[in-house]
Amino acid sequence: MIPTLLDVDTGYDDALALLLALRSPALRVLGITCAAGNHGLPRVIDNTLKILDVANAPRDLPVAAGVRQPLVEALRPLAVNIHGADGMADIGLPPPDRSPVAVHAIELLRALLTGADTPVRLVALAPLTNLALFIRQYPDLAAAKVSGVTLMGGAYLAHGNTNPVAEFNIRQDPEASRIVLDSGLPITLYPLDPFRSLTFSLEESRTLTTHPSPSLSVAGRILVSTCATMGRATAMIGDAGAVATVIAPDKAHTVRLPLTVELMGEATRGMTVIDRRPAPQRGAANEWWTPSPTQVDVVTEVDVAAYQQLFVTTLADQATPASQGDPLVS
Ligand code: BDR
Ligand code: CA
Repeated sequence: MIPTLLDVDTGYDDALALLLALRSPALRVLGITCAAGNHGLPRVIDNTLKILDVANAPRDLPVAAGVRQPLVEALRPLAVNIHGADGMADIGLPPPDRSPVAVHAIELLRALLTGADTPVRLVALAPLTNLALFIRQYPDLAAAKVSGVTLMGGAYLAHGNTNPVAEFNIRQDPEASRIVLDSGLPITLYPLDPFRSLTFSLEESRTLTTHPSPSLSVAGRILVSTCATMGRATAMIGDAGAVATVIAPDKAHTVRLPLTVELMGEATRGMTVIDRRPAPQRGAANEWWTPSPTQVDVVTEVDVAAYQQLFVTTLADQATPASQGDPLVS
């Protein structure tokens, strides 16, 4: 099992990612930190705790509140026409039956990494403010105990989803993104290109809603609702795809390339400038360009059928305790 820490801004697709990570026998989730992003922090925490109940996550799995806003700019949460009025697809889950721990996210990361016997994978599915502050505060611990960061963010060939070229998690906090990406930690970037490729149709999603596994039926309800919210016949599983690359990296195609986060562009702030030039020019200094020393493994495409199957089979494997009835009806 891969020891894993997740940083989330739950979010309908962070919810799907949490279900996949928590139900996967390949991962051992040590803790979850919450960042403002898709919504303000209180709603992110509430949504996260609700999903832990659905997944029947261990009662002592720590969830910590982190930052309330990006390092420099004001928070710009996403519109309700993506994540719904409650921020998690409006499927009416009951209030959470658990609470966050009383330490800040950065201190939870410190404690869990200090106590880890083997290096831990960080899975970053939110604006990178928490992780940037952690890396600045505890750089030696990060270098010693983080095996790598799998990070949903950026765009490779795809267009942006904020300005024309920048992706939301990076654009929300470009300075924090620069700190994490330039940290020297091994980074796997899961950009909008594979993110947009992993979808379920409305019909497939409807089928999932009747499954006896609480995690899979809730995932189906989230996907059905998201089709309606976004007015589409398919819904992306989004951040869950990044988790899938940790569980089954052999089903993802990656290329190691130099990357720079654009901080100053008038039209391009938050763009992930990935140097796709042919090898002889790539990374070479000239009068126009000082190359970025940062190299990341960019996920350029994934085996869609394999990850769809991984998502469904992993979430399906959850028996409902007969004595508890249906815990999902509020
Ligand atoms: C990212 O932004 C958020 O809305 C999603 O949860 C995902 O992490 C996609 O740009
Ligand atoms: Ca997210």
